[in-house]
Amino acid sequence: MDTYALGSYAVHRIGFGAMQLPGRGVMGPPRDRDEALAVVRRAIELGVDHIDTAQYYGPDVANELIREAAYPYPENLVLVSKVGAFRDEKGGWIPGQRPEQLRSGVEDNLRSLGIERLGAVNLRLMDHPSTLPADQRVALEDQLAEMVALREEGKIAGIGISTATRAQVEQAIEQAGIVCVQNAFSLLDQKDADVLELCHERGIAYTPFFPLGSAFPNSPKVQRNAAVQAVAERIGAMPAQVGLAWLLAHRDNILLIPGTSRVGHLEQNLAAGEITLSPEDIAELESAAV
Ligand SMILES: NC(=O)c1ccc[n+]([C@@H]2O[C@H](COP(=O)([O-])OP(=O)(O)OC[C@H]3O[C@@H](n4cnc5c(N)ncnc54)[C@H](OP(=O)(O)O)[C@@H]3O)[C@@H](O)[C@H]2O)c1
Repeated sequence: MDTYALGSYAVHRIGFGAMQLPGRGVMGPPRDRDEALAVVRRAIELGVDHIDTAQYYGPDVANELIREAAYPYPENLVLVSKVGAFRDEKGGWIPGQRPEQLRSGVEDNLRSLGIERLGAVNLRLMDHPSTLPADQRVALEDQLAEMVALREEGKIAGIGISTATRAQVEQAIEQAGIVCVQNAFSLLDQKDADVLELCHERGIAYTPFFPLGSAFPNSPKVQRNAAVQAVAERIGAMPAQVGLAWLLAHRDNILLIPGTSRVGHLEQNLAAGEITLSPEDIAELESAAV
């Protein structure tokens, strides 16, 4: 499978996102613990060298499962996490952007995963003006400065930024020399196209979240789109694979981290790398994308 640079690492274009491992709503233990462990083990067995996780998935559940399933980790496995959020008791997502919170977030990930350095950590921006009053927001400059300090101390190899606007990505490139951007992007949601282009021009990996439209009930699912299903049927693939193959073909700096709680879906997602879409397939898919 092709690779792309994630900072100093060359990783396969298809990795694995761990957000579906915990229970419903990304809270608590998995629906089926054995299956969750099997997903991680199978991913490693099939050569996955890039896992995206977060301490706040569960919270604590995803990292604990990854460690139980895969420790000691293969030498080439790049573990990527994120900081900037916490969970409340009801599963709400709470901003935790203060420098000391970013630092403890990195340290919690290192401890729970049992490693001394994370391959990359995304600064997950939660303090959007629409959700947090100005006096509770932390200047991006101060957040990036803490991430740079953590990198200088060797706790993280690369810095990423997530749910960021173009201006925030530009600031992060300038101030912190980021290695990846993690924003929502899929065939059905291309609102972030300009940030993807910026990353493409700068040789920065772009790891779209919600590549299939997420597990959340209200967002459109790529695999249920009529054009996706028509192309899948014509080429003898599964619809989810067509959505992932479109992303792979779209820009070479896209690194996939589809999330799943099922071994069967994991195997399908990894096999999407073997699918070549024709220019006609791509045109048909893109004309259907809204
Ligand atoms: N930075 C951020 O703010 C942020 C936000 C969200 C996610 N993320 C990261 O991005 C990763 C991907 O996003 P996501 O997991 O939320 O959404 P996603 O990958 O778009 O979709 C996950 C959903 O698709 C289903 N699915 C997966 N493979 C399938 C297949 N082959 N056929 C049919 N259905 C399939 C999963 O169900 P099953 O479990 O039944 O397979 C789940 O409901 C996450 O795992 C996480 O690591 C980051």
